[in-house]
Amino acid sequence: MSTLLLADRPIRPVTRSGFEVRPFDAPLGAEVVGLDLAAPLSNDDFARLHRAHLDHHLLVFRDQDITPEQQIAFSRRFGPLQVHVLHQFQLKGHPEILVVSNIVENGQPIGLGDAGHYWHSDLSYKETPSLGSMLHAQELPAEGGDTLFANMHRAWDTLPAGLRKTVAGLKAEHSYLAKYEELRRRSPWRPKLSDAQIAEVKPVIHPVVRTHPETGRKALFVSEHFTTRVVGLPDDESRELLATLFAHSVVPEHVHRHRWEARDMVFWDNRSLMHLAAGCPEHLRRRMNRTTIEGDAPF
Ligand code: SIN
Repeated sequence: MSTLLLADRPIRPVTRSGFEVRPFDAPLGAEVVGLDLAAPLSNDDFARLHRAHLDHHLLVFRDQDITPEQQIAFSRRFGPLQVHVLHQFQLKGHPEILVVSNIVENGQPIGLGDAGHYWHSDLSYKETPSLGSMLHAQELPAEGGDTLFANMHRAWDTLPAGLRKTVAGLKAEHSYLAKYEELRRRSPWRPKLSDAQIAEVKPVIHPVVRTHPETGRKALFVSEHFTTRVVGLPDDESRELLATLFAHSVVPEHVHRHRWEARDMVFWDNRSLMHLAAGCPEHLRRRMNRTTIEGDAPF
């Protein structure tokens, strides 16, 4: 059983207006029981879900038999949606949905097969990174395919005092291109980016420690996938500092592993969490539909 910091402790399940929020015995996350995401969401239910998302950072809705249109409609309740730069992997007719899949059909990958294979916060390489993401399981492998989530508030809260002093006020660069060529060497099906796509993902600078715009809590905001350097530090110092922060962020005390079940919908807060796709054996099929909701410029 993990020791919970007071601010993360969800305390007790809450039941009102027909659904229940059951916190996990974990550093983050809760299951929402008794809500059908295919049905219209009342304003009261939306307000409760919004609160639960802020409190637990990750919500799991089991067995959701919903269409892409319903996923888009539900996602839009939380804000405008973002369209991924790899338009090759949009769901046909639904640019708001990125297909995350290792399936190859007629020699062509149907989705982004290696999405999330480094720890990251979605779209942190944008001026306005993602508020949150929703991933809906379409097809799951019999083995593997889990997603790991790390609580970045805890990463900040538990950072040794000396390091906190060092990083407070620092800024870092985030770049979509940071690992793109490395990933392409491992996954040659990854498309070569066009000039227009490269122009869409210019590197951006964000604070190393961000303040959650809705809760006011601080969180570390650097990741091994997209953060390339700390602004103003010599290369070796920057590398060393980032390596220390990455390692600290994902110690087991901060991490929850989601084991997917059929038709799970998982909604996480990219301002509070990082995530990692653990991967599955290549011959097993995995397919998910992802939406991302636009957030604020980090401060
Ligand atoms: C992602 O990084 O959004 C994909 C995570 C996953 O497929 O488990």
